[in-house]
Amino acid sequence: MDAAPTDATAPDAGLPLCASHTLEEKGRAFLWDVRQYGRNEVAFVMRFEGQLRAYLNRCVHVPTQMDWQPGEFLDIEKRYILCSLHGAAYEPHGGRCIGGPCGRGRLTPVAVAERDGQVYWYPSRDIVPVPFDEPPAPGQDGPTAAPAAPAAPESPP
Ligand code: FES
Repeated sequence: MDAAPTDATAPDAGLPLCASHTLEEKGRAFLWDVRQYGRNEVAFVMRFEGQLRAYLNRCVHVPTQMDWQPGEFLDIEKRYILCSLHGAAYEPHGGRCIGGPCGRGRLTPVAVAERDGQVYWYPSRDIVPVPFDEPPAPGQDGPTAAPAAPAAPESPP
């Protein structure tokens, strides 16, 4: 009889992200690259009121990253996730927009869990790991893509 899989790298077990102790209460979030519908995105996980909260780092107002500094998402009173661009505010629990130009939108959640001092994430049908050996798709300007080289100056006529 075969034993149940116990490989910690198996998708059912989640993919390891970081040690639990690195996520301090309302502290800096951990960021990692994911792919959604073929586009490179960044996801983040933070600890808020003792619970892990994880979303795509993409504002509902304009699809851009929201953190003030890498991994810094909370407002000064550490009550809301605040977009650094135009100030949209989201509830850390559930990611619902509660103010600013994000309307009735909500952040896209990412499944995470922690066990034995380790934080894991769980890919879904729509949000998957970025393959290590695959270059960005042509025309893909994801957050992990290298910036485009400046255009060469035109030669005088
Ligand atoms: S891009 Fe986030 S509030 Fe405008």
